[in-house]
Amino acid sequence: MANVVVVGAQWGDEGKGKIVDWLSEQADVVVRFQGGHNAGHTLVIDGETYKLSLLPSGVVRPGKLAVIGNGVVLDPQALVDEIERLSAQGVSITHDNLRIADNASLILPLHRELDALRETSGSGTKIGTTRRGIGPAYEDKVGRRAIRLMDLADLDSLPAKIERLLAHHNALRRGFGLEEFSATAIYDELAALAPRVLPYMDAVWRLLDDERRAGKRILFEGAQGALLDIDHGTYPFVTSSHTVAGQAATGCGLGPKAIGYVLGIAKAYTTRVGEGPFPTELFDETGELIGQRGREFGVVTGRKRRCGWFDAVLVRQTVRTSGIDGIALTKLDILDGFDTIKVCVGYRLDGREIDHLPASQGAQARVEPIYEEIEGWSGSTAGARSWADLPAQAIKYVRRIEELIGAPVALLSTSPERDDTILVHNPFEG
Ligand code: IMP
Repeated sequence: MANVVVVGAQWGDEGKGKIVDWLSEQADVVVRFQGGHNAGHTLVIDGETYKLSLLPSGVVRPGKLAVIGNGVVLDPQALVDEIERLSAQGVSITHDNLRIADNASLILPLHRELDALRETSGSGTKIGTTRRGIGPAYEDKVGRRAIRLMDLADLDSLPAKIERLLAHHNALRRGFGLEEFSATAIYDELAALAPRVLPYMDAVWRLLDDERRAGKRILFEGAQGALLDIDHGTYPFVTSSHTVAGQAATGCGLGPKAIGYVLGIAKAYTTRVGEGPFPTELFDETGELIGQRGREFGVVTGRKRRCGWFDAVLVRQTVRTSGIDGIALTKLDILDGFDTIKVCVGYRLDGREIDHLPASQGAQARVEPIYEEIEGWSGSTAGARSWADLPAQAIKYVRRIEELIGAPVALLSTSPERDDTILVHNPFEG
């Protein structure tokens, strides 16, 4: 049995929530390994809707262990709020079913403020972030001045750590002409939160290695998408973590061999929120129609998502940078009824044809899609549960995508309902 990593194969919002939930039913342990509460998953289980941002999806299912790894940036207030919200819905969250890495870095209110300040001040590149403080928290982690979860267990040494952090942040504040932060206020806030988050703290690397050795099935739940990866994405219009599958190991302290199967989630078209290049973006009524039919609004921020045709160049690249073994293709039904569907098969850049997304920001902004036109289908794919339920042209579309991206479709999702899924290959079988 293989441990499975699920990653978004585009710019996030591929419909990971449903697939992760579907897989988590078969898993013993569900692990988050990057990002923070910038993610947003909506799960519908037995008619009850759960909205998760920070907690791994497994947490709502009895008998599953949910783990937040060291690669996640943890907002302790957001954690407490999410736990409270879920408790009010009858989900019990205790040390028995939630563990958080002791070496995870914390997101503090000062990170949120700085994130928003940068987005609104006009002093830098506007990224269109979720304003959750993700970027500034990762900066402090890499800058070796972060407050980590374990620091809340040693309140005597916390003031010195806060001073070190503020030496950096208050210099920035002065630069923005803003009032400096008070170390005491930050200390008081963290000291108050400590007893509410420390019960979940653990040496996650050891716990997960023990689980792995005991033959437990581990599901690694990626957030965002591979094209938002800090190195492999559309830099600087990216998130501040590694979103590719390799991070699943680093982000919780396991070796790379712990990962057996990489499942990429891709929509049958493309969406993006925030700024940045998007070669197949549609600015016409087709884009509007896809957005309306697909209900393309962000779970976390409510922002309208930009929509466009499927970009096989990008997903092919993601298949390679994440080592994707199979794809879960979602939202095929949104394309029902189009006479013609376009798929991007290459780019034109400065008069040349290329088969990949170049790394430079300028070139990424200049590439023009080369489209292949595929005949659409008139029947419905919504709710299909077997290939026999699909119009022949819809199957052709899926087969062409497989060919173009160089990976097979392991799962096909045909509605938000968990059972409206065509299973070709169970990822846990490796
Ligand atoms: P940040 O992660 O809040 O710093 O935002 C950086 C970029 O990642 C922005 O373009 C966001 O819209 C995007 N982003 C962050 N989280 C998600 C997500 O869960 N889904 C889709 N896009 C996201």
